[in-house]
Amino acid sequence: MNITFKYHYNLALLFTLFTFSSIISQNELPSNTSANSIEKKIDSILPLLSLEEKVAMCHAQSKFSTKGVERLGIPEIWMSDGPHGVRAEISWDSWDYAGWTNDSITAFPALTCLAASFNPNLASQFGKSIGEEALYREKDVLLGPGVNIYRTPLNGRNFEYLGEDPYLASTMVVPYIKGVQKNNVAACVKHFALNNQEHWRSTINVEASDRALHEIYLPAFKAAVQDADVWAIMGAYNKFRGQYTTHHELLTKTILKGDWGYDGVVISDWSSTHDTMEAAINGLDLEMGTGTDGLGTTTSNHYDYYYLASAFLKALKNGDIKESVVDDKVRRILRLMFRTTLKQNRGFGRINTKAHHDVARSVAQEGIVLLKNENNFFPIEDKEGLTIAVIGENATRSMTAGGGSSELKPQFEISPLEGMKQRYKKAKIIHAMGYHTGPSVYDDIIPSKLNQDSLRVQAIETAKKADIVLYVGGLNKSHLQDCEGDDRQSYELPYNQEEFIGQLKAVNPNLGMLLVTGNAVETPWLSKIDGLIQTWYLGSMAGHAIADVVSGDVNPSGKLPFSFAKKLKDNGAHFYGETSYPGDGTNQHYKEDILVGYRWFDTKKIEPQYAFGYGLSYSEFSISNIKTNTNKFNTNDTIKVSCTIKNNGNYDGAEVVQVYVGKKKSKVKRALKELKGFNKVSIQSGNTKTINIDIPVSTLAYYSEDKSDWDIEKGDYIIYVGNASNNITKTLPIIIK
Ligand code: BGC
Repeated sequence: MNITFKYHYNLALLFTLFTFSSIISQNELPSNTSANSIEKKIDSILPLLSLEEKVAMCHAQSKFSTKGVERLGIPEIWMSDGPHGVRAEISWDSWDYAGWTNDSITAFPALTCLAASFNPNLASQFGKSIGEEALYREKDVLLGPGVNIYRTPLNGRNFEYLGEDPYLASTMVVPYIKGVQKNNVAACVKHFALNNQEHWRSTINVEASDRALHEIYLPAFKAAVQDADVWAIMGAYNKFRGQYTTHHELLTKTILKGDWGYDGVVISDWSSTHDTMEAAINGLDLEMGTGTDGLGTTTSNHYDYYYLASAFLKALKNGDIKESVVDDKVRRILRLMFRTTLKQNRGFGRINTKAHHDVARSVAQEGIVLLKNENNFFPIEDKEGLTIAVIGENATRSMTAGGGSSELKPQFEISPLEGMKQRYKKAKIIHAMGYHTGPSVYDDIIPSKLNQDSLRVQAIETAKKADIVLYVGGLNKSHLQDCEGDDRQSYELPYNQEEFIGQLKAVNPNLGMLLVTGNAVETPWLSKIDGLIQTWYLGSMAGHAIADVVSGDVNPSGKLPFSFAKKLKDNGAHFYGETSYPGDGTNQHYKEDILVGYRWFDTKKIEPQYAFGYGLSYSEFSISNIKTNTNKFNTNDTIKVSCTIKNNGNYDGAEVVQVYVGKKKSKVKRALKELKGFNKVSIQSGNTKTINIDIPVSTLAYYSEDKSDWDIEKGDYIIYVGNASNNITKTLPIIIK
């Protein structure tokens, strides 16, 4: 990398150029004043810039940076992926890793796990910690979090997102973003919008209704903008209603920058820009990653060929585009700089600290979901004479490697096997791989040297010798698994795992499983195993967190952030066939409309294998005394739900009380019920706690296509309170007047 490009000028130097009589530290001012003074500074900078300099600020100068204006001390902007860790340095002008030795980081759990924790406080700690690591690595923009709604379990990128429910995703993303931005590092929420599959992602045109758009696919972005004040947002690859989403008249110009009043920077996804005029007019501010036409190898500076480069400059010069258009972009880019790289006393960040590892472990512990526990298979006690066979490639495979742009280079990654070995001191842990699927980036195993049949035989023999078999299976981060760039091709477990599970069961009936995925999978093998734990991709502390839960040191409290269908066709997105998913190669229609995830299962009365919001504990909780403050509300009231939770088991633990609301006899199509509030409560064994969950009536509005606005329907509603979308303890009728 060319380090001479990386200058950080002293602000004082910059400001002596301006007409300000006094420079006051941003940090000392109340935020409004501070925002005003930033705008004034920007007002004074804009006239000093030439058109060429302004245009140069609107597109990349390397894979992950943009140009500053050296003569004025305007810095570059440096960005990095991604949602669950700061990615290793990439080369200046190619996708190769730069090969630095000081860029290894803490890998936090992938975002499905964070969503499964149902704990916004953890999201805040996650954001703060990853922001500190980004700052240490001198990044101004962290390219995450991702909030695209989980529409189909085949989407190769679901693991990077926050599940299928817009309320859950919104509730978790806001503290994450605030946490990151506390470090004077911008979060960049992505991918705006309707990027719900990887297959054909660069060309597919999504057709969805206004209701699906506003009620399902946009709320988490809106919360990021309006509740978290996110400073950057990334466009998506796909089209919506015939236009590329990165420079979309309705999405970017009208909704994001108009209706929502977004004042941050719109950054393209890498190569998602397709047109100079649309990009200029519809509100793209910063173009990244465009491949143009392969000029990278044949010209001195192929970045000049970006849509927001020479062609943009030409259109500005000949008057096809007004200068105010580029001024608005530069204003936003400068605003981003004042919030990040130009912020006084910005701090230095920190990396790989114990505190970060602790946060990573806590998120992992709280996100792990216990799905099945027959005969109390879990927890497995550590005792003399016990032999536990930990079987499966996923017991040792790096899961921070692969997966696409969210791939990480952690300082260390504790595998499930390593975690079990460190935790179990009395019991004997034995291991066999069972199958091998090719190397992950950091593996030093050469697959051609491994014979699949021998691996299988060895695993069966190992299972025979054990008292308990813990099979660690699932997906991995290879292409066509949980990986960016394309979707899974089948809902089943790959690599003949179903057959393998049968073979293990045949030699050892004491069989449990850790399911390492970021997606639901088909589970025809479920009856063969007694215990099943969904472990997600847990990052650096994976093995420790897994051993914490398996051993019972930690009582599982995660809940599924998406529905686990029995069959692929049971999902709303797949019910209508190829027109709905994956489309015909050109178009796709979101025919299930607003009935995404559990909204579909509930409303269509289809039983999922595991429902949204479901997750077991080693304790038993009961919810009682469920009531609302009154049963008649005005539209500007808040519904106050209260209840008492008791931990009846022998383990301290946590339960997630979930409140859903449904409208009886609506004039428009409705889901049976929708999540509107939740509260995760920790309760010691034998203890009781009373909690409140507030639901503003305004959040019960639906998006009226007639009015093109939100509307609260008056009349009868039902409040559902329980600990899973399919386990409702009590329903309460209310009336909105
Ligand atoms: C991904 C983005 C990522 C970018 C930069 C793209 O392919 O879609 O999520 O931030 O690359 O790596």
